Amino acid sequence: MDITPTTDTSAPAASALLAGKAVLITGAGRGIGAAAARLFAREGARVLLAARTRAQLEAVTEEVRAAGGTADHVVCDLADRAAVRAAVDRAVELYGRLDAAFNNGAAFVPPGPLDQVREEDFDRVYAVNLKGTWLAMAAEVAAIRATAGTGAIVNNSSVGSLRGNPELPAYGAMKRAVNSLTESAAVTYGPEGIRVNAIAPGGTLTEMIRTWEARSPGLLQRLRERTPLRRAADPEEIAQAAAWLLSDRASFVTGAVLPVDGGARA
Ligand SMILES: NC(=O)c1ccc[n+]([C@@H]2O[C@H](COP(=O)([O-])OP(=O)(O)OC[C@H]3O[C@@H](n4cnc5c(N)ncnc54)[C@H](OP(=O)(O)O)[C@@H]3O)[C@@H](O)[C@H]2O)c1
Repeated sequence: MDITPTTDTSAPAASALLAGKAVLITGAGRGIGAAAARLFAREGARVLLAARTRAQLEAVTEEVRAAGGTADHVVCDLADRAAVRAAVDRAVELYGRLDAAFNNGAAFVPPGPLDQVREEDFDRVYAVNLKGTWLAMAAEVAAIRATAGTGAIVNNSSVGSLRGNPELPAYGAMKRAVNSLTESAAVTYGPEGIRVNAIAPGGTLTEMIRTWEARSPGLLQRLRERTPLRRAADPEEIAQAAAWLLSDRASFVTGAVLPVDGGARA
């Protein structure tokens, strides 16, 4: 068995967690993805932000640049195979390589019991949250292999993928399937030095959870009560876990679905 680490752990650690890495972030116009774009850039990455809403992407890109970071953006609907490939290609065109990707973009659909899920909503979370993640992973693996050679991918799952999800059954099912894609990819691409992990956030203060709260009043309070740390996360706290998993400091971590949930899963 070859026990040589793919990263030289004896070398002095670069001061920044993601120094020199070119990173694609989907769903980067707001919420956790925007927090990731700001954080990854502060940690030395050159970031490419992808989502559908150009104005939000422009605003976050400008913010990163104003803080001295390197960022650009590309409009991309994760349900559109050609657009996903074009986003990955754009990262390589801009930065000459792809080292890492945070597959974070996802659609939210109205909460409600399984028998009341509308077929079009099921199809939508399938197309964006599951198929879109698969499309992105496939294109990213090819780009990492062709440029950086080795690298890392983090998928944004949810604590709601790890148990029954009675309020969001279709969303939970797609996130559980994302965990499966994550583990399968970790096994497939581990031998060539491409690590694939997922994070499973708990309630995080973004537009997504505010939309959910608006439709299910009292949700945030219920989540707080079920969370040992008794609060929701700030988006940056979720981005921090993704940054570490994408960095060489997580060089022996692959195939993990890491809860970042204030203890909600415990
Ligand atoms: N907030 C939470 O409590 C929580 C908990 C667990 C997991 N998560 C996960 O965390 C991730 C980020 O969520 P968030 O809370 O930050 O939500 P958010 O504020 O609604 O942001 C979602 C991002 O995804 C993008 N997006 C949505 N549909 C897309 C599509 N078809 N193509 C490309 N991009 C798309 C959105 O931009 P456009 O609409 O402009 O495309 C936006 O940038 C998601 O995977 C979510 O499932 C969130």
